[in-house]
Amino acid sequence: MTKLFGVLLLGFSGFFLSVRPVFSGETPAFTESVIIFNTICAKCHEAQCSGRLSFDDAFERSRNHILRHYNQASGKKYLQKELFDILSYMKENCAYYPMHFSVPLNRIWANDLLQKYTTSTDSNYFIPVGNLSSGSYDIELELEKNVKVNVHLISEEFEIVVDDCYKSTDQRIKLPVFIEESGDYYLRLYPKEAVRLARLTIIPSK
Ligand code: HEC
Repeated sequence: MTKLFGVLLLGFSGFFLSVRPVFSGETPAFTESVIIFNTICAKCHEAQCSGRLSFDDAFERSRNHILRHYNQASGKKYLQKELFDILSYMKENCAYYPMHFSVPLNRIWANDLLQKYTTSTDSNYFIPVGNLSSGSYDIELELEKNVKVNVHLISEEFEIVVDDCYKSTDQRIKLPVFIEESGDYYLRLYPKEAVRLARLTIIPSK
């Protein structure tokens, strides 16, 4: 009996391992959860580094809370669990959940690549822009229409370099930034109305 149970258990854990590895950052579903977390949940949970979650049954306890802040996850238990796991990871590691991403060599992101960093239901973006060494840069956003956008540029250590609202002219927003600490950076966008980001360029300024 116990042997059978063991076999069943093994079978099950094998199933979960193959379907959903712990850091399945490369699966589209998980990337989407990371983006949802880092745009929606981040409003309150960014940089929470308090160690483990409060309760052993924290997932069951927090499901309603998660749905209150992200109703689109209703009926999607996997999404609720991923969002929960991302917060656990942030609390324990004091870091953004690892994402699978590539940075274009010329640091010009075209529309198709940028679509990976937004979700189908919101038009917020959370874009890992990769390593920036210290110095001055010009960031340029090209949008599909003129809108106001809240722009954040944050380091992997949660240092905020930019946190401001910009209105585009000729569908462009240009912002000069100065990076003090070399490291990985993330660009977060909250457009005031749904809009697609057509292009992102980051170039060192002269
Ligand atoms: C308006 C602020 C706010 C937003 C937005 C928000 N939360 Fe929370 N959340 C809280 C507060 C406050 C607590 C209770 C204190 C704590 O543990 O940080 C909490 C607790 C939790 C807990 C339990 C933590 C523990 O230690 O037991 C989880 C899990 C959680 N939130 C997940 C999420 C997820 C996922 C999202 C996004 C869908 C989200 N929250 C959005 C404010 C927020």
